[in-house]
Amino acid sequence: MPNKNTIWQQLERLAKQSISVPNLIKNEPNRLDHFSVDLDGFYFDASKTRTSQQTLDSLITYAKSCNLEDWRSKMFAGERINNTEDRAVLHTALRASNPRKEVAKSLAHMKRFVQQTHQEKRIKTIVNIGIGGSDLGPRMVYEALKSTQQKLNVYYVSNIDGHDLQAVLKQCEADKTLFIIASKTFTTIETLTNAETAKKWLVNKLGQNAVKDHFVALSTNSQAAQEFGIDADNIFPFEDWVGGRFSLWSSIGLSLSLGLGFDVFEELLHGAENMDQHFLNAPLEQNIPVLMGLIGFWHISFLNIHALACLPYDQRLEFLPLWLQQLDMESNGKEIDRNGDKVDYITGPYIYGQPGTNGQHAFYQHIHQSPLLTFCEFIGVIEPNHPYKNQHEILLANLVGQSLALTNGQEASKDEPYKQFNGSRPHSVLLLPSLSPFHLGQLLATYEHKIFVQGILWNLNSFDQWGVELGKTLAKKVLDDKNNETDVAAKELVKRLKL
Ligand code: F6P
Repeated sequence: MPNKNTIWQQLERLAKQSISVPNLIKNEPNRLDHFSVDLDGFYFDASKTRTSQQTLDSLITYAKSCNLEDWRSKMFAGERINNTEDRAVLHTALRASNPRKEVAKSLAHMKRFVQQTHQEKRIKTIVNIGIGGSDLGPRMVYEALKSTQQKLNVYYVSNIDGHDLQAVLKQCEADKTLFIIASKTFTTIETLTNAETAKKWLVNKLGQNAVKDHFVALSTNSQAAQEFGIDADNIFPFEDWVGGRFSLWSSIGLSLSLGLGFDVFEELLHGAENMDQHFLNAPLEQNIPVLMGLIGFWHISFLNIHALACLPYDQRLEFLPLWLQQLDMESNGKEIDRNGDKVDYITGPYIYGQPGTNGQHAFYQHIHQSPLLTFCEFIGVIEPNHPYKNQHEILLANLVGQSLALTNGQEASKDEPYKQFNGSRPHSVLLLPSLSPFHLGQLLATYEHKIFVQGILWNLNSFDQWGVELGKTLAKKVLDDKNNETDVAAKELVKRLKL
């Protein structure tokens, strides 16, 4: 097992010691200095995790033994680190301040289209049809920023469930609607089926000729998009080195650019690039994505804390946990390593989350008192964009209160044992000065790099997703072959579901 070197074994020994967050705070007086990073106001604090200074030092040594810095250079240089698909991983090139030729061309195409659409004022509603990475990223950003920046109304349709599309079409006037078909491969059944239904709806209302003015495509597969009926000029291509769940920064960001303005999209890219530079240049000990990745890895693989809660204390980040689920779980939810061997340690966490304080009234009971531990990642936004100052104070006081409760817990009296809170529940905090496009870009890139770091520590290829294929294939087989199903329970389901 290449990863289980002597440092790994040392980490295993450290994990056997009893670790208490309050004791770490008591015994390590400069702890906050070593476990927090302030990047011009973008602040990360991991001082309340079950990580001692000695453990952190060993984790950094372990990262070096995995050649983390070399892998990072390989990714940024465009080496084909996605080995099972033989592809480079270059989403960082999409936000580089000196973009490569094809990126500059794509950005210029998007900008022209966005400006023209805003000037003409013909289109009032955008419908983005896509799923997974072709939906979650742009949807999350649009929802996060629309309260301050909105220019056009954007709806997102992802599910093959016809209720999803139906609900949106009810809101649309055909002659004022633009459909964006977002699909990297242009083969995804959900997206193509929704797109066909939307096309029929439009043709029914405006005739066949209207398709060219009301449909655009974002895809690496221009030929399939043209076969669907989309004008070549209205296809916004991107390269196969953009992974689906990392594609928000490519032309997949067109819906949010139309909805919020191209300048917003550019600011988002600048924020992400700022984090790319930090990730590339800051020493490992003061590098936010590296620290997040190492500390998460430690809690998952050594302390057996396999659940991760994404807890943004900002309603505008409602869709962040959903975006993060795909980003992290599709990247690192794997048991075969880069060498083709089965790992004997736990890899990517399972993730859930909701904005604070809603989550507090749903699953925080479990977070505070369940024997099954969750690692919590709190996110706070310092400046709100509403005038209700007292509400914002209550919101953020709740974030601090949760952190205190998770750290120190509470001793219960003998007659009320159910009031016992053990404390020492590990969590980190990320603070953004405001929810500007720039800071949001920083936040999202932080998560991308954290997940990259963890993939290296676990010796995984974080950039393929073979685990989603089998279910898709079998759904198709069920449709093609419903009368010949041999699995007894599945046959019964086919009958009861009237397939
Ligand atoms: O099913 C998984 C997946 O391949 C994701 O990785 C991807 O984001 C999503 O499907 C959508 O794929 P596409 O953009 O090709 O339609």
